[in-house]
Amino acid sequence: MAIQWFPGHMAKARRQVTEKIKLIDVVIELVDARVPQSSRNPIVDEITAGKPRLIVLNKADMADPAVTDAWLKAFKRDDVEVVAVDSKHSKGLKQLMTGAEKLMKDKHDRMREKGRNPGPIRALIIGIPNVGKSTLINRLAGRNIAITGDRPGVTKRQQWIKMKGGEMELLDTPGILWPKFEDQLVGYRLAATGAIKDEILNLDDIALYTARELRTRYPEQLKDRFKLEELPEDAVELLELIGKKRGLISGGYVDFEKASELLLNELRHEKIGRISLETPADHELA
Ligand code: G4P
Repeated sequence: MAIQWFPGHMAKARRQVTEKIKLIDVVIELVDARVPQSSRNPIVDEITAGKPRLIVLNKADMADPAVTDAWLKAFKRDDVEVVAVDSKHSKGLKQLMTGAEKLMKDKHDRMREKGRNPGPIRALIIGIPNVGKSTLINRLAGRNIAITGDRPGVTKRQQWIKMKGGEMELLDTPGILWPKFEDQLVGYRLAATGAIKDEILNLDDIALYTARELRTRYPEQLKDRFKLEELPEDAVELLELIGKKRGLISGGYVDFEKASELLLNELRHEKIGRISLETPADHELA
């Protein structure tokens, strides 16, 4: 979903999410397991204050499992449960339900003591575009639901979607938040994983950032994929070498744009392996 965020849109999105949060028991905050901190939105803490939160590291199938484990621990708090999920292949959904039940346990126990039936957990999925909100809702519901964002001028009654098994109900329109572009590194991480469109940042810059990161974090996977014996220190040379290896030559020179596209495509389609582009230690959260 391509959304251009302007200050007016941000204010509106914040208002819409705040309104929905009043209706629910648990906030399900979806982040990209490959870039869990960069795919969060800075206002989430503020607008969800007081509600128990389940942080879902989605697309865990594409992320480095060891790094995902570190994030599971780093985000854990008393009122925050954290789970890793692969929505596309319906993996981790049981843990997600268990996480939501854990968050509600005390409240539900108190209700039962008073002879009241707590009923299903009411939840709202929130997250930046492309993080997998629609996919997760469909998987939890066990059927395909046409999920639309909030449209300007259209006031629509909120609908609850019953989950398979009936233990949870989700609001049918997820809360869409804007990514935080202020920090350039955050922008590169989101662009490298395909969360934001390539046109927003310069393609060469995204590819150079990616080459540098892969060289530092996953040198062996990079060597394997592109059959490189050594990895040049310089990111431009590295990208040129990758282009050369794949025969992306035009007029006697490496076609830098094609080499950039190739590297990003291979990363986004998991050809280089399971990659995470940030760790809790990068954010002093470890
Ligand atoms: P959104 O509602 O938050 O905007 O995201 P959406 O569900 O539309 O998902 C965006 C893309 O991410 C989709 O790919 C979707 O298949 C993919 N995706 C979502 N969850 C996961 C996951 O856990 N693992 C993996 N590997 N991919 C996931 P797409 O290329 O846009 O569509 P499609 O080719 O899958 O149809």
